[in-house]
Amino acid sequence: MSLLTITKLSACVGAEVTGLDPARLGGNDPVAETILQALEDNGVLVFRELGLQPEAQVQFCRRLGAIDHSSDGHHPVAGIYPVTLDTAKNASAAYLKATFDWHIDGCTPTGDDYPQKATVLSAVQVADRGGETEFASAYAAYEALTDDEKHRFGVLRVVHSLEASQRRVTPDPTAEQLARWRSRRTHEHPLVWTHRSGRKSLVLGASADYVVGMDLDEGRALLAELLDRATIPDNVYSHSWSIGDTVIWDNRGVLHRAAPYDPDSQREMLRTTVLGDEPIQ
Ligand code: OGA
Ligand code: MN
Repeated sequence: MSLLTITKLSACVGAEVTGLDPARLGGNDPVAETILQALEDNGVLVFRELGLQPEAQVQFCRRLGAIDHSSDGHHPVAGIYPVTLDTAKNASAAYLKATFDWHIDGCTPTGDDYPQKATVLSAVQVADRGGETEFASAYAAYEALTDDEKHRFGVLRVVHSLEASQRRVTPDPTAEQLARWRSRRTHEHPLVWTHRSGRKSLVLGASADYVVGMDLDEGRALLAELLDRATIPDNVYSHSWSIGDTVIWDNRGVLHRAAPYDPDSQREMLRTTVLGDEPIQ
């Protein structure tokens, strides 16, 4: 008998899961299947003070798909990447400033990888103030369009770049920074993603630079307007972290961002990423 309960946290995104024994997340326990279905249905799942150990987190993520090991080496456990602005704990911390803007992970990969399927964060240290993680459903953003907009936007394509997301936090880059950003190739994605499941979502966020074939400013204004509409406070679940919390999100159908926090804060999240197996199409 399972005492698992799943309670919605807002109208269109997020649910809290209680009654879970972390030991049941690994192996073949049917509870993991229930959780995966809940993730598809809710976009974000919150497990308060679960106290999930890093190894168990990686094991659970294996049930969702292949684990991203491209950022290994910053933490003793393979499959764990520390999300922190503390450069002593993470040498690539500078790039994380871009997480303060709404985004979908993996829209500008180095190669041709598909966006990650899901991401898990567990809180090791939390910020004294701020540092919430905020989520908005990209499926709900599509559904909220008018029929006319669904029709018009269904054919649009958008160029995404690392430069676009980094410029938002570093508007006056050095020549060297700019060259580094530009060494990552750009990616063109449809604005509307038709998933294998048949569901549709909007592909928006910090990496979205311009709309192909549209006047630059007009296209950027459209992207900004759509992002604003997708992330109005009523559509957002904001997670205030306690140590030991675990949150998992469906990266393909959810936009996320970190709320600002003191750059000197000890805030540290342990992240495990499940690789995607579906192109944006
Ligand atoms: C991420 C991310 C947000 C946060 O790990 O991809 O965007 O709140 N994190 O740290
Ligand atoms: Mn992210």
